[in-house]
Amino acid sequence: MNIGETPHKEKSKGLLIALEGIDGTGKSTQLALLARRLRAAGLEVVATREPTDGPYGRQIRASFANRAALSPEEELRLFIEDRREHVQTLIGPALAAGKLVLTDRYYFSTVAYQGAAGHDPAKILAANESFAPRPDLVLLLVVPPQVGVRRVRDFRGESLNDFEQEDYLTRVAAIFAAFADPSLVRIDASGDIEQVGEKIWAPVRALLIREKIISEGVHERE
Ligand code: TYD
Repeated sequence: MNIGETPHKEKSKGLLIALEGIDGTGKSTQLALLARRLRAAGLEVVATREPTDGPYGRQIRASFANRAALSPEEELRLFIEDRREHVQTLIGPALAAGKLVLTDRYYFSTVAYQGAAGHDPAKILAANESFAPRPDLVLLLVVPPQVGVRRVRDFRGESLNDFEQEDYLTRVAAIFAAFADPSLVRIDASGDIEQVGEKIWAPVRALLIREKIISEGVHERE
C-alpha cells in the first residue's frame, strides 16, 4: 500500500521513523526486522542509513580509523552535508511519494555525537531542523555504554574505532538521555532481539493506527 494514497491522510506525505542510539544498541538489526514486519503488513518501506554511501558519507567512514585526521568543525560539516544530500536525494522524494522511510540514525546522532565532541547541542539541533524533515517517530534504543561497547567488540568482532570508546559513548548517551522531543520514544534495548523487536513494534503500530495507515486488527508478525 502506498501510504500517501490512503483516503484518510490530507496531504500526500509519507512517514519518517528514525532509529537512534549509541553504538552496539542493535539499531541495524532492529531496522531490518521492522522493515520486514512493515512490508508484511503491506506497506511500502524505504530503509536507509546515515552516514550514507554518498560522497560525504564515504569521506566520513574513511575517517573512522583515525578521527584526529578531521577537525571537529570539519567532521560536523561533513555529517550535515551528508544529511542535506540524503534529504534532497532520498528522504524528501520518498516522503513526497507517500512512502514510509526508516532511517538508521538521523540528526539526533549529530546532536549527541558531535555535541559530545564539543559542539553546542542546541545549535546542532537548530541547524539540522532548518532543512531536515522532522521525524514522525524517533526510536531511541538504550543500553548502558559498557554494554554497547561490549556488543561492538564481541558480536562484530571488531576493535573499537574512535567513535566507540566507552568514555566518549558515555557522554553521547548523556546527551541522548537529555532529549525531550515529543516524537521520541525510549526503548530498553538490553533484551534479546525478539524482545526488543516487540518493544519497537508497539509505538510503530500505534503511530500507524493513529495515522489511519493500518487498522486496530493488524498484529502482523513474521
Ligand atoms: P554506525 O551507525 O555505527 O555505522 P556502522 O554500523 O556502519 O558502523 O555509524 C557510524 C558512526 O558515526 C557511529 O559511531 C556514530 C557516528 N555518527 C556521528 O558521530 N554523527 C552523526 O551524525 C551520525 C549519523 C553518525
